[in-house]
Amino acid sequence: MKAKQLRPFIIGNWKMHGTQRALRRLDTLAAGLAKQNNKANNAKPRKVDIMICPPATLLLSMAGQLKAAQDAGQQIMLGGQDCHAEASGAHTGDISAPQLRDAGAKASLIGHSERRTDYNETNKQVQAKAAAAHAAGLMAIICIGETLKERRAKATLPVIGKQLRESVPQDKPKDNRLITAKNTVIAYEPVWAIGTGLTPTGEQIAAVHAHIRKALIRRFGAEGERIRILYGGSVKPSNAAQLLAIPHVNGALVGGASLQAGEFLKIIAAAREIG
Ligand code: PGA
Repeated sequence: MKAKQLRPFIIGNWKMHGTQRALRRLDTLAAGLAKQNNKANNAKPRKVDIMICPPATLLLSMAGQLKAAQDAGQQIMLGGQDCHAEASGAHTGDISAPQLRDAGAKASLIGHSERRTDYNETNKQVQAKAAAAHAAGLMAIICIGETLKERRAKATLPVIGKQLRESVPQDKPKDNRLITAKNTVIAYEPVWAIGTGLTPTGEQIAAVHAHIRKALIRRFGAEGERIRILYGGSVKPSNAAQLLAIPHVNGALVGGASLQAGEFLKIIAAAREIG
């Protein structure tokens, strides 16, 4: 099957990095994007969706900053890094999906492997959080990925299949809650590739992404062809072009390299060039 051309999506996950001083990074990013757009004006650059998921403490300030940044600012969306499965309640320290939306987020990362590891989040919990994100009108960026042990045991595809099946909410036509390409993105992040500098081979990534694509089509029909599947795990300027050219890789979820505006801009530039 030939891979469908979907608009690339580049997401920066700042994790637990950054205080108010990091707001400057967003200005640099906005200015850099404006430059990329001007430069590419005649060349008809490929449109790329861009999102930053900062620590929740920065969301509101960043939303204000982006409003003021006008053209360049309009291109950058904000996302949260997790959300609670309930809309409100007695859950000290947690943040709900409606609260994220209220602070300016359009999406939230759900089921990141660091949450699955640090807080023992199960697929079932991830699914409930994704459903909560949808109910609040947020896009759920649902993360899945195998450990090194699972890859070595040749269990990657079954593990990914199970995570996908159990973490993505069911279609609920009666409640008008459907999984769509607008409200759902899948991020394939091999746990052993996150923050390690290691990446799977192109063939390994292609095999997993094709597997995910097939499963999405089987479950969601034509919509499954449009849901973007991002690769994440040690994406950097030096490997971005190569990774983004792999069939069914529709963008990247970037951790470490998103903390430097210059590096992140290079990854966005690479996404503009593919096609
Ligand atoms: P990394 O993180 O790019 O630093 O490997 C990716 C992620 O955890 O989303």
